[in-house]
Amino acid sequence: MGNDAFLVLFVLLLLLRACFSVNVDDTLSKGQSLSVMNTDIIFSQGGNFELGFFKRGIPSKIYLGIWCKRFHSERIVWVANRENHLSDPYTARLEFSEDGNLVLLEASSKKPFWSTNLQNLPSNSTEAALLDDGNFVLRDRSDLSTIFWESFDHPTDTALPGVKLGIDKAGKVPKQLISWKTSEDPSPGLFSYRLDPNGRSEYILEWNRSQVYWNTGVWNGKTFGNTPEMRTNTIFHYNFVSNENETYLIYSLYNTSLRTLFFINSTGQFQQLAWLSFVESPFIRGWARPESLSDVYALCGPFGIYRDNTSNPCDCPEGFEPFSDIETRLNDWSGGCLRKHPLQCENRNAKKDWFLKISSMKLPVNSNAYLAVSAQRCELACISNCSCTAYAHNSSRCMIWEGALLNLQRASDGGEAGQDIYLRLSADGNTLVPKAG
Ligand SMILES: *[C@@H]1O[C@H](CO)[C@@H](O)[C@H](O)[C@H]1NC(C)=O
Ligand SMILES: *[C@@H]1O[C@H](CO)[C@@H](O)[C@H](O)[C@H]1NC(C)=O
Ligand SMILES: *[C@@H]1O[C@H](CO)[C@@H](O)[C@H](O)[C@H]1NC(C)=O
Ligand SMILES: *[C@@H]1O[C@H](CO)[C@@H](O)[C@H](O)[C@H]1NC(C)=O
Ligand SMILES: *[C@@H]1O[C@H](CO)[C@@H](O)[C@H](O)[C@H]1NC(C)=O
Ligand SMILES: *[C@@H]1O[C@H](CO)[C@@H](O)[C@H](O)[C@H]1NC(C)=O
Ligand SMILES: *[C@@H]1O[C@H](CO)[C@@H](O)[C@H](O)[C@H]1NC(C)=O
Ligand SMILES: *[C@@H]1O[C@H](CO)[C@@H](O)[C@H](O)[C@H]1NC(C)=O
Repeated sequence: MGNDAFLVLFVLLLLLRACFSVNVDDTLSKGQSLSVMNTDIIFSQGGNFELGFFKRGIPSKIYLGIWCKRFHSERIVWVANRENHLSDPYTARLEFSEDGNLVLLEASSKKPFWSTNLQNLPSNSTEAALLDDGNFVLRDRSDLSTIFWESFDHPTDTALPGVKLGIDKAGKVPKQLISWKTSEDPSPGLFSYRLDPNGRSEYILEWNRSQVYWNTGVWNGKTFGNTPEMRTNTIFHYNFVSNENETYLIYSLYNTSLRTLFFINSTGQFQQLAWLSFVESPFIRGWARPESLSDVYALCGPFGIYRDNTSNPCDCPEGFEPFSDIETRLNDWSGGCLRKHPLQCENRNAKKDWFLKISSMKLPVNSNAYLAVSAQRCELACISNCSCTAYAHNSSRCMIWEGALLNLQRASDGGEAGQDIYLRLSADGNTLVPKAG
């Protein structure tokens, strides 16, 4: 047989294997492996969910994840290796290690890219199964009710019915949702959703794990103050459980014809999606919080200006340019804006910096405020201190900002009156006309 004929046969065999490889059904046992090469998929028994490999980004990065069957990999509900992607489609695979753990491997590395990482497993009797509620479990084959590990305990950005978001006092890591970085990058983004760490029975949205920008309001037994939609009714059942061992919210649906999930998206909004399991139809978008993108903390990054609700909500002030075009195109504005010409404040021989006036803005919150001084004194206070990046002034106050400005926003037209803010810029290479006076 000639080399070419052999190659054709080989490719045919591969293709055939790819077509018939979807035979893993709902469990994976020791000795079996799930490979990228064969596009292997584990199906949940009722056919609601699938687990397999998906690719994102350019060059493509490979992840192990779970998606709703109806929407294929369009809406990934769980990712195993969000922080540690695979890149070799020929050797990447999921299998059992000697000690009974699930491991994600690639030929290039002996160290797993992800693992269930448990000790003292009955190494010969573990199996993995994808349940029909979307929970991927590592269990004892000889006693299916013994579950060693489950994906519901390690949510990524999505809470399916049955996921308990909260804290258990046995000292396990709090279960929270963390957004994807961009719609093309499942690695942990800046936005997260979790139970209030100070013990209030409410959930919070945080930027960079520290700055709270929205909360659900306290649970009143039926719903949360700021999400009246989340009440127990004939469709949903919500249960907020708080006892000496754990605190969490869990929800379910009375009618399984309707399916739903909650997730925090890469632009910081927490939202509900629903779909009908029995007809071909797209997702139904439920409510989202905060309702407006403008209320997502630091969405536009340092020095970025939020404009409106359009598809391109972030802008840079004059004299600045987007930190990264590529990320901006992928709806990640967190890099914000950079000065085209760095400030020369420390350089005594350089021309003096000047200020760009931006009119009617909602002012960033993190200012140092000083009591009333004249506009000139306020400007002088800023220009004479190299750590000052902007100032604003009105009849009662002089406000000075240091470092990056976050949450610059144009005041909405009809609504509240904005204030003028003066942004420090380098005199170098600037074609803009400096502020007179
Ligand atoms: C697991 O199975 C292998 C092969 O059947 C056997 O040699 C080994 O002793 C078993 N290990 C345990 C812990 O049962
Ligand atoms: C987020 O917080 C960390 C410190 O916890 C800091 O190093 C990092 O720069 C912050 N990220 C952004 C985008 O500000
Ligand atoms: C808390 O955990 C202890 C020990 O597992 C158990 O005995 C107790 O019933 C639990 N309490 C509740 C309210 O579930
Ligand atoms: C569930 O919803 C579907 C579609 O709305 C309906 O046809 C069905 O009767 C419902 N089942 C129950 C048990 O309520
Ligand atoms: C996040 O959700 C909001 C509300 O549904 C939507 O307007 C926005 O486009 C979403 N962001 C992304 C990146 O899909
Ligand atoms: C953005 O959209 C939300 C929801 O549709 C609306 O409530 C809000 O007023 C809009 N904000 C602006 C600045 O247009
Ligand atoms: C500049 O401002 C910072 C922060 O307000 C302050 O700590 C520092 O002393 C100021 N420097 C001068 C020279 O005033
Ligand atoms: C001056 O600005 C501060 C901060 O934005 C604001 O709280 C205050 O009401 C303003 N005062 C006047 C007189 O506009």
